[in-house]
Amino acid sequence: MKLILGSDHAGFDLKEAIKTWLDGLDIPYQDLGTDSTESCDYPDIGLAVARKVAEQEVGLGILVCGTGIGMSMVANKVPGVRAALCGDTFSARASREHNHANVLVLGARVIGLGLAEEIVRIWLAAVPQGGRHARRVQKIGAVECRP
Ligand code: RB5
Repeated sequence: MKLILGSDHAGFDLKEAIKTWLDGLDIPYQDLGTDSTESCDYPDIGLAVARKVAEQEVGLGILVCGTGIGMSMVANKVPGVRAALCGDTFSARASREHNHANVLVLGARVIGLGLAEEIVRIWLAAVPQGGRHARRVQKIGAVECRP
């Protein structure tokens, strides 16, 4: 599993915290930026991460911006990406088990560090379920416009 990370300036501090948690769990990752709290445009990083996740068979990504909304919008434009903005642990688990989310999106200005850490841990540990869930996810893929 290859984990790709990205944030804009508003999500930078939370992205750095996520890297510390991942290091503690021995989970490797690639950080596509941003590299500071200097203002930048979330679509640039969101697209880069989403495209990289879509390229990989079993790739996963985590994106962070202020609300998580902009990153979700842009990531879900990329065919093959199912980005889930999660602000609670129940949704985090369900987004993997039911929706086969391959990108977790967090709003750094919305949730605290403790909740964010729980969400990341639960999301990474959850396993996509087959059966009716796989059938429904296939139907999402069927409406995507592929280049
Ligand atoms: C940046 O100010 C903010 O707009 C961005 O981080 C994000 O919340 C957009 O959806």
